[in-house]
Amino acid sequence: MRSIINILDLSVEEIDELLDVADDIIANPAKYAEAAKHKQLATLFFEPSTRTRLSFESAMLALGGNVLGFSDAKSTSASKGESVADTVSVVSGYVDIIAMRHPKEGAPYVASKHSLVPIINAGDGGHYHPTQTLTDLLTIRHEKGRINNLTIGLCGDLKFGRTVHSLIEAMSRYSGIKFVLISPDELKLPSFVKDEFIKAKGIEYKQSKTLDDVIGELDILYMTRVQQERFFNEEDYLRLRDTYILDEQKMKLAKDDMIVMHPLPRVNEISTAVDNDKRACYFRQAHFGRYVRMALILKLLGIKVD
Ligand code: CP
Repeated sequence: MRSIINILDLSVEEIDELLDVADDIIANPAKYAEAAKHKQLATLFFEPSTRTRLSFESAMLALGGNVLGFSDAKSTSASKGESVADTVSVVSGYVDIIAMRHPKEGAPYVASKHSLVPIINAGDGGHYHPTQTLTDLLTIRHEKGRINNLTIGLCGDLKFGRTVHSLIEAMSRYSGIKFVLISPDELKLPSFVKDEFIKAKGIEYKQSKTLDDVIGELDILYMTRVQQERFFNEEDYLRLRDTYILDEQKMKLAKDDMIVMHPLPRVNEISTAVDNDKRACYFRQAHFGRYVRMALILKLLGIKVD
């Protein structure tokens, strides 16, 4: 029984296989329509979500399985003080696999120690979001045709941005990667990611406080939202939230084949006028999430489709 808490729980070869299965699902959806028949997925979401929860649920239904769960911890016994460990000890007796999102870093790891079935981390606080990274890698492979030899700019909240942390860890294992870290001082990449996955591996990187100065160098621009829910101080949030706004003027400075990614939700950081630019692929990116989550569910349930 295997859980996925961090993207590094999967080898590069396993990720490549998952992306291949996701592509096969896209090409031959009917082949997979009953692959997880009679299996049940629980989505335990202690924190809000649109894409991750619904794409997990859509993924399981598209595999012929069933779904149960909650999207608001207030409606569960967590509101009476039940621990994550106790909740999972119980729920894992009802289902075959669990996707869990929690505002506390490490909660899905704790859950995995008490679960009878695989746990998938669907985002834990400002820590990790491995299935977003699988989504991102499938998007990059489709849009750029490769996951190596790329300069990727990560812009916005690099401190609390769990999608950024997981993506850097994953891409640090591919060759020819260069990172451009674009953030204000207050939202810089934390050392647990920068030291271990960029500096220690000798990966080329640069830091910038402005987007205009570096956008022309990028193959991929990965925008992120400044996350109000991670700030202790409203004043700081208000001061930092509009630091970067990608608009049509800035897009003129970018390469013709640069792609713009964003895990979403977006607030102000990408002007809606950019949505019509063919380089904007964030909605296509969100759609890829369903297929790669189907592939991951199959892998963790030990189901092979020939
Ligand atoms: N990308 C992402 O995690 O979106 P949701 O918060 O809507 O799930």
